[in-house]
Amino acid sequence: MNTSHQDHTHTHPHPHTETDALAELLELDAEVLQAYLSELTAWLGELADREPRRIVDLGSGPGTGAIALARRFARADVTAVDLSPQMLHRLSKKASLLGLTDRVLGVQADLNEDWPALDTCDLVWAASSLHHMADPDRVLARAFDVLRPGGLIAVTEMDFFPRFLPDDVGVGRPGLEARVHAVLNKRPADEWTEHLRRAGFVLEAKRPSAIDLPAPLPAAAGRYAQVSLRQLRFHLDGQLPAEDLVALDTVIDDDGPHSVLRREDLTVRTNRTTWVARRP
Ligand SMILES: C[S@@+](CC[C@H](N)C(=O)[O-])C[C@H]1O[C@@H](n2cnc3c(N)ncnc32)[C@H](O)[C@@H]1O
Repeated sequence: MNTSHQDHTHTHPHPHTETDALAELLELDAEVLQAYLSELTAWLGELADREPRRIVDLGSGPGTGAIALARRFARADVTAVDLSPQMLHRLSKKASLLGLTDRVLGVQADLNEDWPALDTCDLVWAASSLHHMADPDRVLARAFDVLRPGGLIAVTEMDFFPRFLPDDVGVGRPGLEARVHAVLNKRPADEWTEHLRRAGFVLEAKRPSAIDLPAPLPAAAGRYAQVSLRQLRFHLDGQLPAEDLVALDTVIDDDGPHSVLRREDLTVRTNRTTWVARRP
């Protein structure tokens, strides 16, 4: 997810920090897209030459990937590296809730700087994190060094924030969400194939996933839509007609019949791509 465009001059409309808001978004994403994440980790198990025992998650955030991998590979130790102590705090809370503290370890480090000492591993996972790095090629070269020969790297990226709303949200502004995305989603699609080759990896697979979860969805999807659209709302003043902004505010409000927390017509549409490459 592209969060690097965020304008830090705004204050977040909620009592928690921007990092907490992002962490919540990522946690809700993993909850709502649990089946997709589970398929992805199962697929990695099929591509691996043996069951992974040591896994490194680069830019782990609150650890949605680290936790999913620890659950999938029950004999693996997962080291989750992130710049943010807040993110790692959430990771350790979640790991402890799930009884995974002995196998999921958070390490605070700036991957643009000197790397922490990491044991040689079988699998490196980097989800929505490489595009945040100052020099992704350097990060991939380090990842290559940390993997054993035959080990895999999985890089995954999402195109942008998912779409949730029907074309007509019922407040007289058809096409509202499409206009929001047209204004904010300007980032070109990530392409990591050449970067992986340059670092010495052999590409095993590039897997695009078009996710489309139909209505009705569990309550977490409403909250996910709300957190996600609120993040976008933040950047929209002056970029869309006032009527659109009023309509969007109606939809992201906690209350009212049109609120995403009450709607039964929400869907989740998102495109993600995963590159898997092997260290020869
Ligand atoms: C969009 S989040 C993705 C988190 C997680 N991988 C996921 O998919 O839920 C990007 C993460 O990369 C981390 N990050 C950004 N730059 C970093 C750096 N230089 N070193 C370590 N982590 C970094 C951020 O703190 C954030 O947690």
